[in-house]
Amino acid sequence: MKTLILLITTFTLFFGCNTENKKESATKPLSQPELVERGNYLVNTIGCADCHSPKTFGPSGPMIDPNTHLGGHIDGDVTERVNNEALQNWVLFNMSNTATVGPWGISYAANISSDATGIGNWTEKQFFSAMREGWFKGLADSRKLLPPMPWENYKNLTDEDLRAIFAYLKSTKPVSNIVPPPVNPDSLWR
Ligand code: HEC
Repeated sequence: MKTLILLITTFTLFFGCNTENKKESATKPLSQPELVERGNYLVNTIGCADCHSPKTFGPSGPMIDPNTHLGGHIDGDVTERVNNEALQNWVLFNMSNTATVGPWGISYAANISSDATGIGNWTEKQFFSAMREGWFKGLADSRKLLPPMPWENYKNLTDEDLRAIFAYLKSTKPVSNIVPPPVNPDSLWR
């Protein structure tokens, strides 16, 4: 009898504690404004604008232009021809960091503002597929994103962080800008 009581007590204690722990560890999902706030923090500390925002030039160097923040590469920004010799050993960026030349050709940073020419019409699923699997426009079987977009790092962000980044991007000032398609290396090296 004593053993039975002990067993029942142990059982109750164990499961009692377990339920209690679950309650404590289950975190409340972030509300929409909280998601936007966290996304703002993540985007602006990770540095998406380093590549995705055109820059103006002030006394201390490149500065983000608030009018085109996260609007991607502006067509015609690079007018110089690429020096093939330099490309034997270097990867080159334009002054805004929005265009990059390397063995893959020229890639242009995408418009990730909330405009329809950016990610304005994207679903969260598309965003996850771009950030986790590197699909252009987040559409499987389109094409893989080119360097230097570091999606191989970003795929490790938690679901909640990716949701927060997407919520923030959707809340940004819309920048209407159609980014040119990448340039094939064959048309560069010749
Ligand atoms: C080192 C430069 C760099 C950084 C930093 C960077 N990106 Fe990119 N990103 C690019 C380039 C370049 C492209 C376009 C690649 C291509 O066309 O294949 C791109 C493409 C994308 C795309 C796909 C857009 C489309 O139309 O398919 C998304 C989404 C994206 N980036 C989001 C982000 C977010 C969010 C961050 C910050 C967490 C970020 N990027 C940081 C360079 C960068």
